[in-house]
Amino acid sequence: GTPVRVALLGCGTVGTEVVRLLTGQAADLAARVGAPVELVGVAVRRADRHRDVPAGLLTTDALGLVSRDDVDVVVEVVGGIEPTRQWLLAALRAGKSVVTANKALLAEAQGELFAAADASGADLYFEAAVAGAIPLLRPLRESLAGDRITRVMGIVNGTTNFILSAMEETGAGYQEALSEAARLGYAEADPTADVDGYDAAAKAAILASLAFHTRVTMGDVHREGISAVTPADVLAARALDRTIKLLAICERVVGEDGTESVSARVHPAMIPRSHPLAGVGGAFNAVFVEAEAAGQLMFYGQGAGGAPTASAVLGDLVAVARNRVAGGRGPRESAYADLAARPIAQA
Ligand code: NDP
Ligand code: HSE
Repeated sequence: GTPVRVALLGCGTVGTEVVRLLTGQAADLAARVGAPVELVGVAVRRADRHRDVPAGLLTTDALGLVSRDDVDVVVEVVGGIEPTRQWLLAALRAGKSVVTANKALLAEAQGELFAAADASGADLYFEAAVAGAIPLLRPLRESLAGDRITRVMGIVNGTTNFILSAMEETGAGYQEALSEAARLGYAEADPTADVDGYDAAAKAAILASLAFHTRVTMGDVHREGISAVTPADVLAARALDRTIKLLAICERVVGEDGTESVSARVHPAMIPRSHPLAGVGGAFNAVFVEAEAAGQLMFYGQGAGGAPTASAVLGDLVAVARNRVAGGRGPRESAYADLAARPIAQA
């Protein structure tokens, strides 16, 4: 079939692995999609630092790349809210499908992005934005679309889980563990986003939006990070046969008058060591989903890092490429209509 032409924005921890998978598995991907998936450009900040990418593909002009006529799909793994918002809006308005791992942007501007996607009929996929490699958003958006989700709860930040686990298991200091998490490619460019809970709050906003068919943004999420958790706290929890985890909790709340709202919060919690979340170590993530008909589901796997995140990006890329080959698109934003008017409770 006609090739699906891909522009990659960003070639850092995640982008490098995206290029590796995209080029290394080109034949398999073409067979799965029904057309070749071709990388036609890679936007970076410092072109001289990317000797492993063919020079002819590199540019420092992301907006220029997004706007090219020979680009069908834009994969964004740069991060940050601006200028990525402008690049992705330009892509979607031009009918180009977008795959992004950018939770900070989605938690702030999902409404605007979805509106642009709906107006042009483009796809907007973002499985990598929450819980790394774990297939979680597609199940919420598609597999559970016929059920009624009541709660989504779990560990959604790999860096803080890595730090808390290291403090508990090896007695490592907070700073030492954070540096190691950054070295391993788990931490955000500004790791304050991880330790102060902003990253988990952005993910909670995305999860609550999808689970409850409403629109929850960063400002709606109560947020507390782990910077106040001391080694003494970790030891005290241990003495009580408990462990400290940073949890994201999104719930449907029914008020006394029967009105429903949505609550989303992120904070450290002491949980019994017998709880399944207590055994989630390193940069792993685990999320429980409760739905009326399905009951309880648990999703577990690598929540951060270049290759695991690239796996989720590639899965989305295959999905949007297949949609293009079939002449259709994925789930519509209008799926968000049912709870949209309901108030969002602060925790
Ligand atoms: P990195 O900092 O490793 O990579 C960022 C890339 O963006 C670099 O290649 C950089 O170029 C490029 N870039 C920065 N500014 C510009 C610009 N103005 N124009 C063009 N390119 C630019 O980040 P990560 O790969 O770790 O993360 C990327 C995204 O994925 C973020 O949104 C992050 O939140 C998300 N994410 C990351 C995960 C992880 O485990 N690392 C997991 C899940 C999501 P240069 O290399 O030249 O500096
Ligand atoms: N910094 C994030 C984390 C990357 O540690 O979970 C994955 O989204």
